[in-house]
Amino acid sequence: MQGILGQMKKSRNSPPKTSADASSRVAIAIMAAGKGTRLKSQLPKVLHKVGGKPLLAHVIAAASRVVPPQDVFVIIGHEADRVRAAVAETGVHFVLQSEQRGTGHALMVARDALSGYDHVIVLSGDAPQITPQTIAQLLNFHLDQQAAMTLLTADLDQPTGYGRVIRMNSRKNSHSAEVQAIVEEKSATLAQKQIKEINAGFYTFAVPQLFGHIEKLSTANPHAEYYLTDMARVLRKAGETVVAWKTADSAEVLGANTRAELSLIDAQMRMRKCEQLMAEGVTIFFPATCVIDAEVEIASDTVIEPFAQILGHSRIGAGCRIRSYSVILDSEIAEGAVIRTGCVLDAARVGPSAIIGPYSHLRPGSDIGEGAHVGNFVETKKIKLGKGSKANHLSYLGDAEIGAGVNIGAGTITCNYDGVSKHATVIEDGVFIGSDSTLVAPLRVGKGAYVAAASCITDDVPEDALALGRARQTTKEGWARAKRAAGNPK
Ligand code: UD1
Ligand code: MG
Repeated sequence: MQGILGQMKKSRNSPPKTSADASSRVAIAIMAAGKGTRLKSQLPKVLHKVGGKPLLAHVIAAASRVVPPQDVFVIIGHEADRVRAAVAETGVHFVLQSEQRGTGHALMVARDALSGYDHVIVLSGDAPQITPQTIAQLLNFHLDQQAAMTLLTADLDQPTGYGRVIRMNSRKNSHSAEVQAIVEEKSATLAQKQIKEINAGFYTFAVPQLFGHIEKLSTANPHAEYYLTDMARVLRKAGETVVAWKTADSAEVLGANTRAELSLIDAQMRMRKCEQLMAEGVTIFFPATCVIDAEVEIASDTVIEPFAQILGHSRIGAGCRIRSYSVILDSEIAEGAVIRTGCVLDAARVGPSAIIGPYSHLRPGSDIGEGAHVGNFVETKKIKLGKGSKANHLSYLGDAEIGAGVNIGAGTITCNYDGVSKHATVIEDGVFIGSDSTLVAPLRVGKGAYVAAASCITDDVPEDALALGRARQTTKEGWARAKRAAGNPK
């Protein structure tokens, strides 16, 4: 099993290059304090998941490829503890904005944290498709232009809801990089609403200019908030350079403000994940029906059938087949294994060439050996099933260590729970358990032993023995005929 990781192709590219020289200190601030009113949810907006990961986790991952995590500052506020706990292991810093008075205010409260830097890249915690490459390009453009503020923009066919970018008229060049102002949807005139170039909500600021002028922001707008977008007008008025850099990939900048936007972004991310896996040699039939999380790894020549879900940190080796309607969470599947229709795997391990299903439920701690079979309506939990062993039908196997070459008959139950504690069952190599047996734990069945069908086994069975734990059959010759005759006199 150890081998799977080694076989997986590591697809990590090297971090993008920026033109920041060694002497300029660059921080990234991620605005993530808002509630997300439009989602109508108990969960803070940035913890809603797309592609199987919280929105904010995607943004932190992209940011941490451009600067080290200790230079990333996440501004939190609404449900701050919950947000902090969800991404704490990333090693970023947090800044508390206890009252959320707008995106401009978010930066005001981060002043102390950021004052030691020359430039700050500002990202939105609700726009998860931003790539490290685009962040680096935004920074590079900012440095090249020696600007005080550089904003990332994109052309959207449906710009409703976004801030619109008002470029400077330039006689020399109709595509001036210089920006006059950003107008929010609610304040835009009809003519401004026609503008398709939107503010993506990502910026780079020169830190001294940002904090030298941020106090000039006001709350004189329909939301009565401090808009960070107003820094464009403020800085321009102060004679500073404000420029825009437009990305060609507008999908990267989509914000998840509504459930509809969440589902659109989720679909885009999952399709990209499928495309990446297909490029690496995985066959995916009808990828639009498959749900594969961002961190999932799948090796080449594995086939994924329609409507499969592969979630969390699952890893699948080469040459496997995952049949339709299976849901696989945080599980490891070694090369050549087949997961047949309708299986549920949760924190399970499946060995090479094993066959699971249809309709098996592998619960946490299930470790299925090489070439083993787990079949129809079999539930397993915290078990080891040895090489080549079979449990093909209608069984519950929990807290059990089962050796190699074991046959578990249909309907076998490990009675692992006495109402208070769980107990272990050990079934050694080569054992044959007859159908419909109940194995009352704690119990050991010795190597090569037989358990007769329909037995209730309460005592250990020695090696090579036959154990019968059922009432002996009595047969009453002619009984049925006599009964029929008695009840039916003719
Ligand atoms: C913002 C921009 C808009 C842009 C859009 C792109 C402003 C005023 N408008 O609008 O021009 O087109 O993003 O997606 O900035 N946040 C805080 N503290 C606050 C308020 C918000 O941290 O006090 C965070 C939110 O959690 C969110 C981000 O800032 O992650 C953006 O806020 P949001 O309310 O989504 O702004 P938009 O209306 O989308
Ligand atoms: Mg937004």
